[in-house]
Amino acid sequence: MAARHAAVVALLVLAAAHVALCGSDRAGVVAHGGGNAPPAANVTGAASSAPAPAPSSASLAACGCGPAPAPWQFLNQKLAALWPVIQAFKKTITCDPHGVTATWEGPELCSSYFNGTKYKGFYCDFPPNAPTTLTVASIDFNGFGLCAPSLAGFIDQFPDLALFHANSNNFSGDVPDLTHLPYFYELDLSNNNFSGSFPDTVVPLGGLLFLDLRFNKYAGAVPPPVFDLTVEALFLNNNGFNGRIPDSFGSTGAKYLVVANNQFTGPIPRSIYNTSATLSEVLFLNNQLSGCLPYEIGLVEGLVVFDAGGNEVMGPIPLSFGCLSDVEELNLAGNQLYGQVPDVVCLLAKTGKLQNLSLSDNFFHSVGHHCMELVRSRVLDVRRNCILGFPDQRPPIECAAFYADPSKHCPFIPHIPCELPGYHHPHAAKADVAALPAAAHGHGQTQEGGN
Ligand SMILES: *[C@@H]1O[C@H](CO)[C@@H](O)[C@H](O)[C@H]1NC(C)=O
Ligand SMILES: *[C@@H]1O[C@H](CO)[C@@H](O)[C@H](O)[C@H]1NC(C)=O
Ligand SMILES: *[C@@H]1O[C@H](CO)[C@@H](O)[C@H](O)[C@H]1NC(C)=O
Ligand SMILES: *[C@@H]1O[C@H](CO)[C@@H](O)[C@H](O)[C@H]1NC(C)=O
Ligand SMILES: *[C@@H]1O[C@H](CO)[C@@H](O)[C@H](O)[C@H]1NC(C)=O
Ligand SMILES: *[C@@H]1O[C@H](CO)[C@@H](O)[C@H](O)[C@H]1NC(C)=O
Repeated sequence: MAARHAAVVALLVLAAAHVALCGSDRAGVVAHGGGNAPPAANVTGAASSAPAPAPSSASLAACGCGPAPAPWQFLNQKLAALWPVIQAFKKTITCDPHGVTATWEGPELCSSYFNGTKYKGFYCDFPPNAPTTLTVASIDFNGFGLCAPSLAGFIDQFPDLALFHANSNNFSGDVPDLTHLPYFYELDLSNNNFSGSFPDTVVPLGGLLFLDLRFNKYAGAVPPPVFDLTVEALFLNNNGFNGRIPDSFGSTGAKYLVVANNQFTGPIPRSIYNTSATLSEVLFLNNQLSGCLPYEIGLVEGLVVFDAGGNEVMGPIPLSFGCLSDVEELNLAGNQLYGQVPDVVCLLAKTGKLQNLSLSDNFFHSVGHHCMELVRSRVLDVRRNCILGFPDQRPPIECAAFYADPSKHCPFIPHIPCELPGYHHPHAAKADVAALPAAAHGHGQTQEGGN
């Protein structure tokens, strides 16, 4: 497992959060996915073409899987003990469109280690506690399209397993308890057929670095301890999760966190400030999040992608957003944001790294001075807002109704929690008042929130 660190790094770099929105893109991402095409094989023929029957130990025969190799044919006892586990799982598989399970026969479980073609999907390495014993360290079924009603009794029976990747299969059932696997750190169940409530068995996994449950049919609340996991990447998108995003959100040490395309409600947790040392890309896209856009987002210094588009988030953009000096993509389109697009945010295209500021389908009434050139260069999209004199805006009556509705008000916090080169904060007290929708109503070009 010497390659563990390198593999994680390679994986995380390539699996940036916006890529997470695709369902079956990761087959080629893993370090050892292998490019050789599967042989033209079939499921049914597999058992009958096993090697000549040999005397086998009781444990090997126990699964009733047909002719078992003799114990001495395996490289070591660890592999002999895994053979019946694989054979028992093979019997539960109900579809195998690429015929991979036909290669799961004979004693060569570590075939891939020797560049062989047996046991597709199984990868071997030397575990730290037995550095001379080759055994199965990772299972990568990405893109195999296998159907099986349960993984219980399978992945939990590989004592040295570090990774299980199963992107684009049709697995379902409960996720087995893996807490007794000391090296386990990557679980990818994305684009499968899992349903029911959040798989509680993953919550106690202390060493987990990567958890990918996206594109399944999970529903219900996400348990707060999920955000205490040590993961670097947490992908929960494209399920049916609902309820509030727990306040424990701020405990996450994740670098990539995607909860997009679910049915979460309630506010973006203010505890997000606490993720400042680690969070790089976060996608809240397409939920039903509401409440005021938190000032605390501007405290997350290393943010590169912030996407809360397609929600019901309200309020002005806090000036703290001007401190996001690493941000490249900021998507707040399709919400109920209002006031002026802050100049300090538009300045990030000049002084920072901002490349895409999506604010369409909101209720902004004006833009800061430096925003004009971003509209021209198409970095800033403010279509379907309430900006006088701009093309493609909402009908005035819609804007008037919005600005007259006191339920849409949020407090405006003018404080800028960082030093901005060349920026002198004007009239902070006045800005505070002017940013309230009611105050702005009727004078579309007022200059609250800093020029
Ligand atoms: C499956 O494979 C076996 C052995 O390769 C072969 O004899 C058999 O005809 C195949 N069956 C089908 C349905 O293709
Ligand atoms: C397997 O292939 C790799 C790359 O082609 C090579 O470096 C390695 O030595 C081969 N291993 C064996 C056991 O043949
Ligand atoms: C899972 O099975 C369904 C129904 O047979 C099929 O439409 C779908 O493509 C399968 N998914 C994968 C990832 O193989
Ligand atoms: C998907 O899961 C449902 C319920 O868990 C099950 O009835 C169905 O057969 C599964 N589909 C496939 C293709 O495995
Ligand atoms: C901040 O994060 C730490 C762990 O990194 C956690 O123990 C603490 O509870 C978090 N506080 C808040 C307010 O989220
Ligand atoms: C900017 O971001 C929005 C929202 O994520 C996206 O729809 C749009 O295609 C992006 N624009 C460019 C030029 O990349």
